[in-house]
Amino acid sequence: MTARILSGKEFAARIKADAKAEAEKLREETGVMPGLAVVIVGEDPASQVYVRNKHKACEELGLHNVSVEMPETTTREELFAKIDELNADPKIHGILVQLPLPKALQSAEAEVLERIDPNKDVDGFHPVNVGRLSNGAGSLVPCTPAGCIRMLELADIPMDGAKAVVIGRSNIVGKPMFNLLLQHNATVTVAHSHTKNLAEITKQADILVAAVGKPGFVTADMVKPGAAVIDVGINRIAPKKLVGDVDFDGVSEVAGAITPVPGGVGLLTVAMLMQNVVTAAKLQLK
Ligand code: GUN
Repeated sequence: MTARILSGKEFAARIKADAKAEAEKLREETGVMPGLAVVIVGEDPASQVYVRNKHKACEELGLHNVSVEMPETTTREELFAKIDELNADPKIHGILVQLPLPKALQSAEAEVLERIDPNKDVDGFHPVNVGRLSNGAGSLVPCTPAGCIRMLELADIPMDGAKAVVIGRSNIVGKPMFNLLLQHNATVTVAHSHTKNLAEITKQADILVAAVGKPGFVTADMVKPGAAVIDVGINRIAPKKLVGDVDFDGVSEVAGAITPVPGGVGLLTVAMLMQNVVTAAKLQLK
């Protein structure tokens, strides 16, 4: 069997087209154009690329967007003051503080994320939004898992009653993915680095999500024939070579559907961020 390739480009285009239409309708009806502020502290080159992609997407959709660049030496208080200013800015509906923060600020990461107004938290990382998601009432949901779910819906891959296995338990991907799959009536197992007999568990999955951060970690012998395999990994193995957590060549011989890296889930993340900015603007009208 050769798997159907789930193209991030195709699904991201659909998500962005929907978000754009929703933003235009909002502007016509209320005069409000959704706006995003991305705060980047320091000069991490990978973060700079991600932030550029977020602004490009905003431009494509016609959303208001602002880039706040702060030096590596920024203090916790200076960053808080900037977040307070953006929280109070009526033109800004979404605030994203790009992670990772520079070393000196890393111990303040939780406080930084909690400083953002939960209704402007387009990353969905604020504990209020984590709680809302867990209660089944989340509207600002972390972009990567939300994008994966939207892709499964658009690709007509059934979640209701499916057995789903998520490898990885991070706050950004694994845990929200668990909650979202559960809300869609999947039976969900979260596996991680302490899981015993991992292949036995993953082989039962109709939907297998890999978010481990290890190149080629999921091999063909771990996959149920016909399964949908979603690769959330982005691993740089050479200056210009990105690979996922899934051994794409081997697994695509067994799986029914698979996302490539690059060109898969990464594009969905940015598309879903656009949707979250529009959703946040609507939340703030209430
Ligand atoms: N760094 C890498 N991915 C992300 C993300 O989704 N949000 C933020 N804020 N920082 C990131």
